[in-house]
Amino acid sequence: MPTALVDGIPQPCTEGERLLEVIRRAGKKLPQVCYHPQLGPIQTCDTCLVEADGELVRSCATTVRDGMKVVTASPRSENARREAFDRILGNHELYCTVCDNNNGNCTVHNTTRLLGVEHQETPFQPKPYEVDSSNPFYRYDPNQCILCGRCVEACQNVQVNETLSIDWESPHPRVLWDGGMPIHHSSCVSCGHCVTVCPCNALMEKSMLGEAGYFTSLPKPVFDGMINVVKGVEGEVGYGAVMQLSEVEAAMREVRTRKTKTVCTYCGVGCSFDVWTRDRHILKVEPADGPANGISTCVKGKFGWEFVNSADRLTRPLIRENGRFREATWDEALSLVARRFLEIKAESGADALAFVSSSKCTNEESYLMQKLARAVIGTNNMDNCSRYCQAPATVGLFRTVGYGGDSGSIRDIEQAELVLIVGSNTAESHPVLATRVKRSHKLHGQKLIVADLRRHEMARRADLFLHPQPGTDLIWLSAVTRYIFDQGLAKTDFLARWVNGVEDYRKSLEPFTMEMASRRCGIPIETLECAARMIAEAGSVCALWAMGVTQHTMGSDTSTAISNLLLTTGNYMRPGTGAYPLRGHNNVQGASDHGAMPNNFPGYQSVADAEIRAKFEKAWGVTLPAKPGLDNHQMIDAIHAGKLRSLYVFGEEMSLVDSNANYVAAALAKLDFFVMQEIFFTETCRFADVILPACPSLEKEGTFTSTERRIQRLYQVFEPLGESRPDWLILQEVANRLGANWNYASPAEIYREIAALTPLMAGVTYERLEGYRTLQWPVAPDGSDQPLLYTQAFQMPDGKAKFFPLEWTEPSDQPDAEFDLHLNNGRLLEHFHEGNLTYRTAGIREETPCTFVEVSPELAGERGVRTGSWVELTSRYGEVRVQAVVSDRVGGKELYMPMNSTAEPVNRLTSSHTDKATHTPAYKETSVRLRVLEENGPSPLPASNPRFGKPTPQNGVEVERKWKRADYHPPGSGLVQIQTASPATRS
Ligand code: SF4
Ligand code: SF4
Ligand code: SF4
Ligand code: FES
Repeated sequence: MPTALVDGIPQPCTEGERLLEVIRRAGKKLPQVCYHPQLGPIQTCDTCLVEADGELVRSCATTVRDGMKVVTASPRSENARREAFDRILGNHELYCTVCDNNNGNCTVHNTTRLLGVEHQETPFQPKPYEVDSSNPFYRYDPNQCILCGRCVEACQNVQVNETLSIDWESPHPRVLWDGGMPIHHSSCVSCGHCVTVCPCNALMEKSMLGEAGYFTSLPKPVFDGMINVVKGVEGEVGYGAVMQLSEVEAAMREVRTRKTKTVCTYCGVGCSFDVWTRDRHILKVEPADGPANGISTCVKGKFGWEFVNSADRLTRPLIRENGRFREATWDEALSLVARRFLEIKAESGADALAFVSSSKCTNEESYLMQKLARAVIGTNNMDNCSRYCQAPATVGLFRTVGYGGDSGSIRDIEQAELVLIVGSNTAESHPVLATRVKRSHKLHGQKLIVADLRRHEMARRADLFLHPQPGTDLIWLSAVTRYIFDQGLAKTDFLARWVNGVEDYRKSLEPFTMEMASRRCGIPIETLECAARMIAEAGSVCALWAMGVTQHTMGSDTSTAISNLLLTTGNYMRPGTGAYPLRGHNNVQGASDHGAMPNNFPGYQSVADAEIRAKFEKAWGVTLPAKPGLDNHQMIDAIHAGKLRSLYVFGEEMSLVDSNANYVAAALAKLDFFVMQEIFFTETCRFADVILPACPSLEKEGTFTSTERRIQRLYQVFEPLGESRPDWLILQEVANRLGANWNYASPAEIYREIAALTPLMAGVTYERLEGYRTLQWPVAPDGSDQPLLYTQAFQMPDGKAKFFPLEWTEPSDQPDAEFDLHLNNGRLLEHFHEGNLTYRTAGIREETPCTFVEVSPELAGERGVRTGSWVELTSRYGEVRVQAVVSDRVGGKELYMPMNSTAEPVNRLTSSHTDKATHTPAYKETSVRLRVLEENGPSPLPASNPRFGKPTPQNGVEVERKWKRADYHPPGSGLVQIQTASPATRS
């Protein structure tokens, strides 16, 4: 182990460690204004200078060497650091007492204190620019900007949106958006990375402004007056006394500012962060060390929380009476629910009732709902919306490797030599996970292959982009696999040791020649061969896929084909390899894991297995049904058939997000008794008989499980609004009114029961999940978890994986003369699904006010469509009217419609065809005809939408340009200029 001498004291170091980290570990307090552990060395501030082996160096950018003699306290380095910081103060006006960033964690304030600065030599010089407040969520004040470049580094190399830069050659450098556009006319996607890492108040969340401090909401003249008073006093008493005053004010803020850890309620990436609040006002979302996300967020997680305090939250139970809803007491509503459930059960049996859990709600809540269905009502008619998205991927993995979850972590995806993305618009649907791929691709030489119908951002960045004919992924995947075998590129040693069924599988690949694949998929043979070679030759491959694969009649089989390909190339069992079906909702993984399925108890324990059933019967003190129940697709058919009379749904907008929405809505209208548990009066609520007001994630405790199988705790930020209640408490009330005797005092207590009954989660406890600690299942009783699966063996009886032979069949709902266009659909970055939550954030609504249909330039020319034209889309199942956006993201006769609409939902067009193995609707197999309507309007995407921006990619902050400025000279004397680390070695 190398050892450095820090101020004469030996300090053991790790190979390649940064000197600054070693000094910090040695207990020395050293300024470091531009350095951020998750951004690496930026080298713009020069405040971390020390002497190493007699030379002045930036400790953030210097790698420690064995025997290095480091002096932090020499007059030479101390003077240099002071000089560097003094220059920073020339760019920043210190008015801490009236600053919204004065919260004890301001880097500029704390560095002023650390260095004991009393007066500055370099006078503050305002820059000749206006404050830019054009973005709905944050503002940039050039006058306070110290040009540290953290924001640029985060934008260019962490988020990799490549919007921000600094014009180092300007007489007055500042941060630029798209090279000098107002923020709201740039490519900024409002992910918030820049604001999160800014070390001062130059970039601030608007929700903080005038809200964080006691004196920060003063009218401007008074505010300016106070700054002048402070400045006047400072000359006499020095900064020390003024800073003390501001620190008293900062300490006072502690009393009223709460910081509560939560987990994002939107997608399955599982970003976690602190929510800063004052009363019910959200001051900001502050990510720091999220196990999945570090400092990262997307616009939804950072800014999309206005729905929580929305004026139209449901706050009292509602009961339908004479065709209208009236407010009711909880007692009335719960009594009615219990009475009607018992009546229907008595009249028609337990299987006349069904239950749908929410993948937005917690694991504990899914557990309670399946327990309610099974143990209290006596039916296995229980499901959640993973059937609409990821069930086929789970089946593909069950068939081949054994566990129905991502085989590694986001860290593995980051590390892979090659990432293969199939049918996933990752940059919009799983934005933070996409940033890790974009970063590795940009900085670390990772190769990227994307197969998709649309030329979306990941496709544009890819080294190889495949555009297969809709519904033909299985063909090209199988052909590529066959080619790898035929060319002797398969990992035969791995196959011999770890995989069963090789010969049968090879035989099944016979029809999948390159010629056949090229003809059916419309991809040139050379492109397919290139993909095969890239995959076979890469040292490690991660395959990512999402609903472009699963929402097909062959969703399970195509998922299986991906896993077969990974097995063929030996891409399991090692870091940087594996299968990653990207889970859509924040807790869609957890809802299934915790038994919200018709055939499984929690932990995928079969309800048909007598031994397992006996275990649950003993624990719950009841007799349980053995026959698997109806899934949510079958429930709709059963309602139409008159077999299912009652439904209890929580947190699921079934009437819009289910495929063939008209058919689903007609079914819901036929129910004898329908209970909805919701936070808003959604479209689906219109069909309900009783509506129970529930709480969003910020108003309750519990756990979510992200796409990485990562279980994380969320803590309660607010009290429930009005009379709304957390779902777990409502479910307990309903169960008890039905005769159960549940007495759970907290979600922690519920989890104790889950862990005792579920081997997959045996070692999960709330203590082990305290704060930002997490566990990735399976979790052994001693609490050890498995971030990377299959390191010892596959989850199969003999420990070996299994090839699963496949055949291809034609997709459903094919285009014909009448319905001549293929309609694809999916998410949009800014909105989550239909937008029930995200439309309630004003800034998101402003940037992305409605849905639209993307039409290719070719088709637009042929049909006379232009951006803004109103068109009518008609499928075999329904019609919608939307405006067109002409875009080369789609090609030929393929259309794309995002699903963010409650008024014109795309699912009025989708069918009831399903994947054979899972009943997942074939959302992506839809044919439509397009009729151009008379009306024209402006673009449905306003000019401020980031899709119209023009990014300015560069390699981070490009500090070398600063060093070339005529007015730049290194502080102190004899600074050894350390070059910025080359891209390949950046952290
Ligand atoms: S940003 Fe920090 S240093 Fe600057 S005025 Fe605010 S609290 Fe003080
Ligand atoms: S705006 Fe950017 S460059 Fe300016 S102080 Fe903040 S992080 Fe640094
Ligand atoms: S929506 Fe997904 S990517 Fe965005 S902050 Fe939430 S968890 Fe992270
Ligand atoms: S911390 Fe800014 S140069 Fe090292």
